[in-house]
Amino acid sequence: MKKVSKALLCIASSVVLLAACGKQESKEEKTASAAAPAEYIVGAEATFAPFEYQTEQKEIVGFDVDLMNAIADKAGFKVKFVNTPFEGIFNFLAQGDRDLLASAITITDERKQTVDFSEPYYESTQLIVVPKGSTVTKFTDLKSLTVGVQSATTGDETVQKLLGKSNPKIKRMESATLALKELEGGGVDAVVLDTGPVKNYVKNNASLGFHFISDPDFPKEYYGIAVKKGNTALLAKVNDGLAAIKADGTYQKIFSKYFADDVK
Ligand code: ARG
Repeated sequence: MKKVSKALLCIASSVVLLAACGKQESKEEKTASAAAPAEYIVGAEATFAPFEYQTEQKEIVGFDVDLMNAIADKAGFKVKFVNTPFEGIFNFLAQGDRDLLASAITITDERKQTVDFSEPYYESTQLIVVPKGSTVTKFTDLKSLTVGVQSATTGDETVQKLLGKSNPKIKRMESATLALKELEGGGVDAVVLDTGPVKNYVKNNASLGFHFISDPDFPKEYYGIAVKKGNTALLAKVNDGLAAIKADGTYQKIFSKYFADDVK
């Protein structure tokens, strides 16, 4: 008699528990499906045309913006770009102020220690921009010259290798645009910068007569989208979305929109 009532009690309580669990689960499912898709904040230093730059209305546009939106479409989330200084940009992920960084960021082993990167989405390298009449023909010609770079970029690192990290002849600017302005004003003899913004600048400022020089010593660089170290769930979504837009031609469309008429 005692045994039976104990068993009954057990069954009864587990039925209650199951019911409770069932209820909660369906409630959560409902809110999940009714809620709007997650919106992720994307950091980008937006003076780096054609990858990310601002319109007169301060809207951030460019290749990285189109790319992120296309990835987000496939992966079922939304993105909002926020202008973010490049120097120290990775801290914004660590602090949780940005969920993603899409800012023409080169994947490097050093950066991989702090953040996780998506699969590469764009191949780049460095170029040397010089004014009309410059005698520079190769990287080593910069040895005794004053060189402008965007601070904390791979361009900065490249020039450091030739001139030395603390050489005052390296002029570190907050943005690529400021480095190029410095070149226009004669404050530097050359600027070392990523392929995309260099070609974009030379094309759109033809009247200046600037030209660019490539050097076989400059390694290939690959851009990646960064997430906070260990955010494997978001990284997987980004990589899946990237694979999907590569497979269905969307990536190629975006690429052509920005780079089809690149200067050679
Ligand atoms: N690719 C270079 C790097 O990762 C430059 C990136 C600068 N990007 C920018 N949006 N300002 O260091």
